[in-house]
Amino acid sequence: DGEGGPRDAGIDPASRPRKDDPRAIRRVGVIGGGTAGYLTALALRAKRPWLDVTLVESTGIPIIGVGEATTPSMVPFLHHYLGIDPDELYRAVAPTWKLGIRFDWGPHPDGFMAPFDWGSNSVGVLGSLATQGDINAFTLQSLLMAQDRAPVFDLGDGEHLSLMKRMPFAYHLDNARFVRFLTELAAQRGVRHVDATIADVALDADGWVDHLVTGDGDRLDFDCYVDCSGFRSLLLGKTLGVPYVPFTDSLKTDRAITAVVPHDGRIKPYTRATTMDAGWCWTIPTRDEDHVGYVHSSQFLDEDAATAELSRLYPEAHRFKTVRFRSGRHEECWRGNVIAIGNSYAFVEPLESSGLMMITLGILSLVGSLPASWDDPAPRGVVNAALAKKWDEIRWFLSLHYRFNTRKDTEFWRDARSSTDVSGLEPLLEVYRGGAPLRFRDPIVRGFLEATAPTFYGLAGVDCLLLGQGLPTRLLPMTEPVESWAARKAAADSLVAQALPAEQALAAFDTEPRLNAELLDD
Ligand code: FDA
Repeated sequence: DGEGGPRDAGIDPASRPRKDDPRAIRRVGVIGGGTAGYLTALALRAKRPWLDVTLVESTGIPIIGVGEATTPSMVPFLHHYLGIDPDELYRAVAPTWKLGIRFDWGPHPDGFMAPFDWGSNSVGVLGSLATQGDINAFTLQSLLMAQDRAPVFDLGDGEHLSLMKRMPFAYHLDNARFVRFLTELAAQRGVRHVDATIADVALDADGWVDHLVTGDGDRLDFDCYVDCSGFRSLLLGKTLGVPYVPFTDSLKTDRAITAVVPHDGRIKPYTRATTMDAGWCWTIPTRDEDHVGYVHSSQFLDEDAATAELSRLYPEAHRFKTVRFRSGRHEECWRGNVIAIGNSYAFVEPLESSGLMMITLGILSLVGSLPASWDDPAPRGVVNAALAKKWDEIRWFLSLHYRFNTRKDTEFWRDARSSTDVSGLEPLLEVYRGGAPLRFRDPIVRGFLEATAPTFYGLAGVDCLLLGQGLPTRLLPMTEPVESWAARKAAADSLVAQALPAEQALAAFDTEPRLNAELLDD
């Protein structure tokens, strides 16, 4: 069962079930075959190889099927935690790289960049650059993004040098290809698969799930149930009735019109976010086409008008689809023998690509804390509190994108500017107004901020967002002399000029598996 082998690395021996323990956790049922379900099943097989894992999904209930932009934590999660060979992923899924997000809003005509290296030292110049109007040139990754390049260099004779490993980057994934890949991998790695619609859930006297009943009347018994049933929240919400905490005061969007748009072969190394009349549009590059989606509020715009507006932005858009959603979380993700991961527990609209990031965090929490037996104490309280806090932090960070957006020309944006609830970050806003970047503030003040207004994205993330949106503050002086910044900027410019356009860099990875293998180096 994997004991003693290299796959045992990182496995907590206390989580292995004891012989003859009638309350041992041996059979886990994962309900749902979206990314949440498949990633969970694969993680359980990788880290608890003795578990008998069954994934139950209904082919009659489609997966969300969008959500291709990820965050940097996805890369080590796939390759190190799940042990997925990068070469295999690149062959089967053909991801593109994401170095950050480009926001087409704020006072600067070109908008602003939110690169993943926003926490690097050079972010210190952001404040000064903001005043000089060159807000897009404050880190190496933002320079690469501005020129659609990736840090891969042609050495001649078909040889390439890649610096991808040295910077935080994420993947854009074509969701259909990704889920197909995960499905095949799960079968290879011993995940059982049942195609059935769960029609009924039986509880025991303690209110724990006893068994499931399929539409065909079959009974499915497990020791632990992971609810990955998406917005239906079949076990956590519908069956157990765990209360829901809506984020509507901060995040008012509830629908997306999605489509695909042909591109000319040039691939942007970032996700683009563009303001629209009643929300914003994502543009996510895949190898063959761009995936786009207009996130908006149905209160302010009907479906036809939203589709028409998206078509005006992208006249070649086709394969339109409508996705309805709500932003919020349940009070708990873990109750009794049910743990919910993915949209069944919580969701916020995709402004910062938090869906898959939080799914991986939920999986780490599950694998790290599931006891060997239900007779052992299970740390439900701490997992519930910690994940709820993370979701709340994301809610507040996203709310800043609306409250301080510079658009004022439609009813939606006027409403967003006047009524978006940002109260969770009030202490931080108070400090920001007194001087930014926040990262330059006195360490004691920064410490207070971490305690009173923590944000998932750190102070550098808030600096980037608020300065990028032009929220007034007193700009603090740069931490390094202008001459040394100028020299570093010149060096970065010359490096970027030699970097390959993103599509050529990706092609190098397709033909040189050695470059993929380097991603696995520690
Ligand atoms: P999903 O809905 O995909 O799957 C649910 C599964 O449960 C299905 O397999 C279904 O068959 C099964 N099921 C339901 N009821 C059942 C029953 N009774 N019996 C049996 N099976 C049942 N994330 C991100 O990281 N980056 C992004 O850019 C985006 N963008 C984005 C845009 C929009 C508009 C939305 C709505 C969401 C995103 N996301 C995202 C979020 C991302 O799509 C989402 O988090 C993942 O796809 C995970 O979805 P789930 O697996 O939770 O549910």
